[in-house]
Formats: sequence, C-alpha cells, structure tokens
Amino acid sequence: MTNELFSVKQRFGIIGNAEALNNALEVAMRVAPTELSVLVTGESGVGKEFFPQVIHAYSARKHNKYIAVNCGAIPEGTIDSELFGHEKGSFTGAIDSRKGYFEEADGGTIFLDEVGELPLSTQVRLLRVLQTGEFMRVGSAKVQKTNVRVVAATNNDLMKAIAEGRFREDLYYRLNTVPIAVPPLRERKGDIYLLFRKFASDVAVQYRMPAVTLDEGARAVLESYHWRGNIRQLKNVAEQISAIEESRNITADILRRYLPNEGSHQPMTGNYSSLYDDMSERELLYKILFDMRNDINDLKRMMTAAMSRVQPTEAEPVRHDVVGLLPPSAPQPRYEENAFAEVVEDDDEREITKEDVQREQILRALRNNTTAVRRPPKSSLSRSARSIAR
Ligand SMILES: Nc1ncnc2c1ncn2[C@@H]1O[C@H](COP(=O)(O)OP(=O)(O)O)[C@@H](O)[C@H]1O
Ligand SMILES: [Mg+2]
Repeated sequence: MTNELFSVKQRFGIIGNAEALNNALEVAMRVAPTELSVLVTGESGVGKEFFPQVIHAYSARKHNKYIAVNCGAIPEGTIDSELFGHEKGSFTGAIDSRKGYFEEADGGTIFLDEVGELPLSTQVRLLRVLQTGEFMRVGSAKVQKTNVRVVAATNNDLMKAIAEGRFREDLYYRLNTVPIAVPPLRERKGDIYLLFRKFASDVAVQYRMPAVTLDEGARAVLESYHWRGNIRQLKNVAEQISAIEESRNITADILRRYLPNEGSHQPMTGNYSSLYDDMSERELLYKILFDMRNDINDLKRMMTAAMSRVQPTEAEPVRHDVVGLLPPSAPQPRYEENAFAEVVEDDDEREITKEDVQREQILRALRNNTTAVRRPPKSSLSRSARSIAR
C-alpha cells in the first residue's frame, strides 16, 4: 500500500485492505486534481460517501465549499429551487429570493447522492450546468454562471432507468466521465472481521465498557454471511450486539440471532432503495436508543444535582452501563414502559417539591421519547434517517 493510500484511509477513517477498495481509492485520488465528473456506483451501504469527500479534499477546490445533496430525500416540487435557487414570488411560499447549491458551491464541489432519483426536468437543468456552467434560478430569466465540480453516486441500475426513460442517457455519459465502482462487502471477506472489531471498539470507547469479542465460530459466521446491507448493516449488527448482549463473548448462536435470514442469497440487482430505507430505519432506531440512554444519564445527573442541593450528600457517581438500560437480551429493540418502571411508579400525594418538578420533567421526556419511538411517522423517519446516514 502506498503512503498516500495509507494516509487517506487514516484521515477519513476508512477501514480495509481489499484490493478492489484500494483500487477505487487510488482512482479517486488520481482523478481528484482534474475537473472530471465522477460517478460512484455500488450497493447501498458500501461506503460510497467517502469518495466525493476524498476527491474534494485532494483537489484544488479543497478550500472552497463541499455540499452533499441527497437527491432522493428532496421532494420533487422543491428540488430545482434547492439546487439552482429561486426568485422572490416565483412560487407560493417563496417570500424571499434564495441561492441554490450550485450558486453556493461556486468554486467547490457538489456531491449528488442517489442521482438516479432526480426528476427528468431537473436532469435537463443539471446537464446544462455541467456542459456550460450556466443555470437560472427558478422564476428568473437571468442566466448565471457557476464553476462546480460534480461527483454523483447511485445504487440504482442507471442503465435500466435509461432504458425505461427515467434517466437521460446524455446526462449519464456526462456524469460518468470517470466511473468508480465500490465493491460489496461480501467481495471483501478479509475486511469483515476488521470492520466488526473497529465498530465494536468504537461502541466500547463511547460507552466506556469492554468491547465484545467473537469466538472462532462466530467469526466464521460473520465472514460467510451475505451482508446485503453491506458495511452499514455490519455496523448496525456490531452496535446492536454491543448494546444488547450482556456477555462480552459472542458465539455463533448469539451472532445468528442478529443476522436476518437472507434466504436464497441472490445478488442484489435493480433498485435497492427499499432495503436502504429499512436499513436506515433500523439504524435510526438504534441511534434513538443510544440518544435516549444519554438523555437518561443527563436526567440522572440533574436529579443527583438537585437532590444534593435539597439534602447535601455525596453525589452518586454516574453509571455508564448501557446494558442495564436496555431490555435484556432481545435482539429486536423494544421500548416498553416497564423498562422505565422505576421512574414511572409513584402515586404518593405530597407537597410539590423540586424533586416532583424534576420527576414530572423526566416523565414528560420519557413519554415524548417512547411515543416518538413507538409510532415513527414513516415519512419523516425516512427523511431524517437519510441525514443520519451521512
Ligand atoms: N471502509 C469503511 N470503513 C469504515 N466505515 C465504513 C467503510 N465503508 C463504509 N463505512 C461506514 O458504513 C456506513 C455506510 O456508508 P455510506 O458511505 O453511507 O454508504 P453508501 O453511501 O454506499 O450507502 C457509514 O457509516 C460509513 O461510515
Ligand atoms: Mg449513501
């Protein structure tokens, strides 16, 4: 491995030594100083988002803006205005004029993630700005100029989208001047265990607890699994096991409980966006779980502080055990009220004290958290999941 490759991995926290990954990174570094458009392809969760960042960081544009846009997450009605800006009064609600990303990022780089999701009308505008650097704000007839490098990514089969008339062929060739294909995790078997250890140790450091370790059987299961959700899925599994399992020694049987049965092990083809959404939602739920744990610790600290003010005693040390706050060894997250029974039960009629006020605040926070987790509004969940996936 060259020094440069080593340092780019260090800098971006990219783990793995698979030849196909190294090649992809080398192409990114070689093409970075040029002005060429790059199209990054690969299944969901393979790590496509590192590539535009590497390209920007190794280009002469590195001191200018880098803007990442998830084309699949912006509603069709507003995407033109997001990308190219709008004039005041150009549509209902346009109370002010606004710069778009292509204007903001002048001199810099724009990453168009899930570019296959762009509506056809936006594809026309994009092609124009790529070819001539010209664009117009929505509701304006004034042609403006910008100098933006575009890196796009897709997990869709763009050729199929072209055949079905959903994606412009001319735009495809314009974006795909330099293709970078990021290999699926199952084709980087040697990296799987390395990545698992990294994610398990990140959780251990973050929550100050010992890292989980895999026995030989578990390692074999991990390495032969299909990983349809790739590294995103592996990361979720490592985080789930670390948070939920009380034992730090993971056997094959334990591990299997966290691996959905992938049935026929067919390679993924076509549109993976529903899998992407599933993975992101699961990821989001675990993030919420971890955040709730932090909130609870904060509340505990507040309680301890308030109590010590009322009744001076030595402050209790704050506990950092994730395990104790999670439902016992259930692979799927459950958010049951009785997990918080300790806080919830109390019907004593007393005078209202500072403690009561705090208790009420805690209950309200917990109620909000549990409702948010139990009935996730599907649309907003996927939207925020996308931003969390960043
Ligand atoms: N080689 C890698 N080393 C460390 N983390 C990785 C690697 N590849 C992907 N990840 C992590 O996996 C998750 C998914 O990566 P992402 O770039 O969002 O995937 P994609 O855009 O291809 O769906 C992110 O949390 C990312 O940091
Ligand atoms: Mg992505």
